[in-house]
Amino acid sequence: MGKALIIGAGGVASVVVHKCCQNSEVFEEICIASRTKSKCDALKEKLQGGKTKISTAKVNADNVDELITLINDFKPDIVINVALPYQDLTIMDACLATKTNYMDTANYEPLDTAKFEYKWQWAYKKRFEEAGITALLGSGFDPGVTGVFSAYAMKHHFDEINYIDILDANAGDHGYPFATNFNPEINIREVSAKGSYIENGKWVETEPMEIKRVYNFPEIGEKDMYLLHHEELESLAINIKGIKRIRFFMTFSQNYLTHLKCLENVGMTSIEPIDYEGMKIVPLQFLKAVLPDPASLGPRTVGKTNIGCIFIGKKDNKEKTYYLYNVCDHQECYKEVGSQAISYTTGVPAMIGASMIITGKWNKPGVYNIEEFDPDPFMEALNKFGLPWKESFTPDLVD
Ligand SMILES: NC(=O)c1ccc[n+]([C@@H]2O[C@H](COP(=O)([O-])OP(=O)(O)OC[C@H]3O[C@@H](n4cnc5c(N)ncnc54)[C@H](OP(=O)(O)O)[C@@H]3O)[C@@H](O)[C@H]2O)c1
Repeated sequence: MGKALIIGAGGVASVVVHKCCQNSEVFEEICIASRTKSKCDALKEKLQGGKTKISTAKVNADNVDELITLINDFKPDIVINVALPYQDLTIMDACLATKTNYMDTANYEPLDTAKFEYKWQWAYKKRFEEAGITALLGSGFDPGVTGVFSAYAMKHHFDEINYIDILDANAGDHGYPFATNFNPEINIREVSAKGSYIENGKWVETEPMEIKRVYNFPEIGEKDMYLLHHEELESLAINIKGIKRIRFFMTFSQNYLTHLKCLENVGMTSIEPIDYEGMKIVPLQFLKAVLPDPASLGPRTVGKTNIGCIFIGKKDNKEKTYYLYNVCDHQECYKEVGSQAISYTTGVPAMIGASMIITGKWNKPGVYNIEEFDPDPFMEALNKFGLPWKESFTPDLVD
């Protein structure tokens, strides 16, 4: 049916490629393009021979002209951006120039400022509308499935949703003293930033890890979780009717936090360049180079993730509570696609989001967050492609 250009060849991209090959009716042809072509070739080597035709290319996605040349050569129906958030705008520019649909899993963040927000990408809305192409923002798990869950809850269970708590638990154990489950630089920038949530239309800022709760997660058990700033709060507060408060919590072990604090205290998480033997280096980028590659965690990670949303709102003037979540097993993911659950829970929704656009189920020119589309075909595809969801009408609540 269609062709996808996949940019990036890391942990998430690997799952996207596996899943596109499982859905060959939609993805007849894919091109894997990244900075290090050998990683693209390794993926091709592993997966070629099935119905989906695979090619590879080298591209520097910071360079719009290189991207335009690649897109004009391959002529994809969509570009799936699973490189890093720093490349979002250059890839969107190339999509505009070539009138090609766009999709990503993380919102734009400037390299020199650890601050992610949607304003840069929302600014493309009119130009995408005029070009007649769709940009789907945030089609991973969080953001991504959390937005689809919210749209589904709104469509089927509520007249208005007043409170959303997004809970992201990872009970996986990789056996290393310290490692991150996806790109270490992006991950540490996210968790060492100030926390924030939205209440009554305003952002409330907290110190990093200031707000802690303990939650008893289905199939995982009790975990410490901490309030973080997270990008989908910004769009959900606008797109879901009736929001009074929306928060995001992620679980961290005491061991992870102790290591992170120590690294912060010695300056290793800083993004300010320093002089080192005549060179400028960014401490956080150096730290990334010495930490285990997230893609290598697959074989050694055991345990499960549980990510979902608790909604409190009104239906027919009565207060109602609803919890939608997915539980994913690290080893099951590894057996299926050779990756741990964090890459899996991001890569599966990325493939599904792209398939929604290629099949025409989600076509509307402009720039949209995922909760602005009909959630039903996506929810169906989650069950089909490895991320089945569960629901509860009597969940424990977070105070
Ligand atoms: N929404 C969610 O739920 C969610 C969850 C986790 C991750 N994510 C997002 O998913 C994305 C990928 O994460 P990951 O863990 O797969 O990261 P990763 O393993 O570090 O992979 C990133 C890939 O992008 C490539 N790349 C980086 N800069 C590039 C450039 N200028 N030109 C071309 N390719 C470039 C890298 O190439 P090299 O191999 O040369 O380094 C690498 O192959 C990130 O944006 C992350 O924020 C989203």
